Amino acid sequence: MSKICVIGTGYVGLVTGTCFAELGNQVTCLDTDPVRINGLLQGQMPIYEPGLEQLVEQNVQAKRLHFTQDYQSALEGAEYAFIAVGTPSGVDGEADLQYVKAAAESIADIVDFPILVINKSTVPVGTGDWVADIIRRRRGNRPLEFAVVSNPEFLREGSAINDFMAPDRVVLGSEDRSSANRVAELYKPLRCTIMVTDLRTAEMIKYASNAFLATRISFINEIGNMCEDLGADVREVAQGMGLDKRIGRHFLDAGLGWGGSCFPKDVKALEHMAVLHGTQPQLLQAVMEINRNQRRRAVMKLRKALGTLNEKTIGILGISFKPNTDDIRDSAAVEIMHLLINEGAHIQAYDPQAMDNAAKVLKKVKLCESPYEVAEGADALLLATEWNEFKQIDFAKIKELIRNPLILDGRNLWDYDLLKSMGFTYMGIGRGNN
Ligand code: NAD
Ligand code: UGA
Repeated sequence: MSKICVIGTGYVGLVTGTCFAELGNQVTCLDTDPVRINGLLQGQMPIYEPGLEQLVEQNVQAKRLHFTQDYQSALEGAEYAFIAVGTPSGVDGEADLQYVKAAAESIADIVDFPILVINKSTVPVGTGDWVADIIRRRRGNRPLEFAVVSNPEFLREGSAINDFMAPDRVVLGSEDRSSANRVAELYKPLRCTIMVTDLRTAEMIKYASNAFLATRISFINEIGNMCEDLGADVREVAQGMGLDKRIGRHFLDAGLGWGGSCFPKDVKALEHMAVLHGTQPQLLQAVMEINRNQRRRAVMKLRKALGTLNEKTIGILGISFKPNTDDIRDSAAVEIMHLLINEGAHIQAYDPQAMDNAAKVLKKVKLCESPYEVAEGADALLLATEWNEFKQIDFAKIKELIRNPLILDGRNLWDYDLLKSMGFTYMGIGRGNN
């Protein structure tokens, strides 16, 4: 059993802390947000993540998992301090490291025993060295025995617990092999592949992985757009490509493009890093441009089908950036709603989990209680997020409620033949053969 402090209780920190507690460690999760910590102390989850609430409850009851706002008590006796704070986009697309800096400074101010500082936040290459420097400089003539290890996180929202507990790999980067090996001990119970490398390589592995996944999606979206013009079906193209083991089928679903709290900011941050250090990141720039266009293209399709968007009512199904999360950060649905509103459309929308977050930012959108309320009086329905709930929708009921039976299936979720036979005009993504 090890004593662990996890700094930041967002999607990554809370999942990391809870899973390490589940593996038998003593974990204290720390956050500077009082609302978050007070809620957690009362058993309220700050995020929606399947399975998380139960796992937190179990480990709190077992007295392995604790929450606090107080750095002093959180770090007391900790052998490991994981930094899992946010690294949002700065003004020029760079990763904003103010929260990482604050966490490093707090560690330097408080700790007086040997500690491993493990960086789980996604940070630019070189940040591990920078964190070590911050701690060293802040200590001045009170030297601290510590090492910084990079341990990028690869979990996905919506399947975070499973991704943490059964990872494809754990990456550890450090200039000091024995420190990396000590962090590896924490992951041994997972029986997964553990790759140990140097700090900067570990940091780059994280950005390269996210950028590559985003590239695959932009690639298939570009192919999908060609399919629409050339009479092919992108879903089958992806299937046919994916059967080649060298390519694989994952992350080849054409749709409204990639969003979320990470791909957009991480691809931008990698582009920023490249430019700063003299490389021309042509591919990354194209990947981002294709993604921007994919959202505009959805608006264009609706405009073309309706003649104008002005004074039209558009129903939106799904607001979160993907299913099984309440996260709406850089969601395609949200941006498309803003673009539609700019053209004079009225929007009514529904999401199974993201309504509270949506209410904070979508002031001009009518937030509905069901998919049927969304369809009522609508001139078109756009499926933006492929929640399971939307697979089971009663289209006969939708047909009665909708003013104009036009559907844009932004995630290729529904059955074209069925909808057409019911009298809907159906548009998908990359389905040129329909
Ligand atoms: P988040 O915004 O959900 O949570 C960050 C938390 O850190 C917040 O609760 C905030 O109050 C807290 N915080 C900020 N400054 C603090 C400080 N000085 N001390 C203590 N707490 C502080 O962020 P997230 O989505 O969990 O992402 C965290 C990092 O992990 C980011 O770098 C992100 O790129 C990376 N990451 C995220 C995911 C994901 O699926 N969300 C996956 C892999 C990696
Ligand atoms: C992504 C990565 O998958 C994780 O490995 C990584 O840890 C995480 O970012 C991170 O660094 O934060 P996540 O953002 O939770 O995870 O979600 P994904 O499942 O990757 O989806 C990202 C976006 O791509 C979503 O908007 C989704 O709709 C879109 N997508 C995904 C597609 O359009 N097509 C696909 O085939 C797959």
